[in-house]
Amino acid sequence: MSTVLITGATDGLGLALATRLAGEGATVIAHARSEERGREALAELLDGPGDVRLVVGDLASLRDVRALADQAPDRLDVLVNNAGIGFAGGREQSSDGYELRFAVNYLAGFLLTSLLRDRLAACAPARIVNVASAGQAPIDFDDVMLEDGYDGVRAYCQSKLAQIMHAFDLADELSDAGVTATALHPATYMPTKMVTRAGITPASTVEQGLEATWRLVADPALEGFTGAYFNGTSEARADAQAYDVDARRRLRELSERLVEV
Ligand SMILES: NC(=O)c1ccc[n+]([C@@H]2O[C@H](COP(=O)([O-])OP(=O)(O)OC[C@H]3O[C@@H](n4cnc5c(N)ncnc54)[C@H](OP(=O)(O)O)[C@@H]3O)[C@@H](O)[C@H]2O)c1
Repeated sequence: MSTVLITGATDGLGLALATRLAGEGATVIAHARSEERGREALAELLDGPGDVRLVVGDLASLRDVRALADQAPDRLDVLVNNAGIGFAGGREQSSDGYELRFAVNYLAGFLLTSLLRDRLAACAPARIVNVASAGQAPIDFDDVMLEDGYDGVRAYCQSKLAQIMHAFDLADELSDAGVTATALHPATYMPTKMVTRAGITPASTVEQGLEATWRLVADPALEGFTGAYFNGTSEARADAQAYDVDARRRLRELSERLVEV
């Protein structure tokens, strides 16, 4: 049975996915921002019959992301970059001085994936799933950190498109290694913390998002399926910038520089 690392496993979609996979017999490497948060949110799973192990790190700190990768096991079949923050609130910065949504929603996953890719390749066939969103905004390479006229929705949407661009790049880079990479919009306005905090009325259930995400993580029918973006359970077209190889190269080169802190 698979070993699956899920970031942001303490709430919402990540917690639901961890619960389902543990119930199905997977080894779940459940990530929390801190030991305290993990023990509180995951008590039932950690004490339950499934094989669930806690790993910790604040994704707003690239040093923590490196420490998180060190806690991951040598054997890893699936990485789910799920953790994220929504669009409520003003402009904030990560510990490394980067715009917070870009840092947590995208850059942390970029670094974590690059630190774990050899472990995934060693377990091929393996999968990387980026939990993105239908809310996407093109990256303005002249103001990636959104210093000029900050808007939380745009910050969130930019970070989500960056995750999709990252998944497309990974699919190209890792195809010969037997590692697939996909991205998805799980469901629209599930009743989770990030939605309720923004004052939005939920429009779907966590179960819908769970079903869409579970398929990409574990459905044998999708074995070998790579380089695609899904809206729920349907393959869909992402923002045009995701298909622009020059924009993807710029984002990749920028990200490589930004994580060298
Ligand atoms: N909800 C929706 O309708 C919707 C729609 C489209 C896409 N999505 C995407 O689905 C994913 C899951 O979202 P959700 O709705 O389940 O949200 P959620 O309930 O707010 O859960 C977010 C998770 O990310 C973790 N997290 C946030 N910041 C972190 C940090 N700095 N360090 C470590 N962990 C951090 C949270 O930890 P804590 O529990 O400690 O806060 C939590 O476990 C996100 O990527 C989101 O963008 C959601």
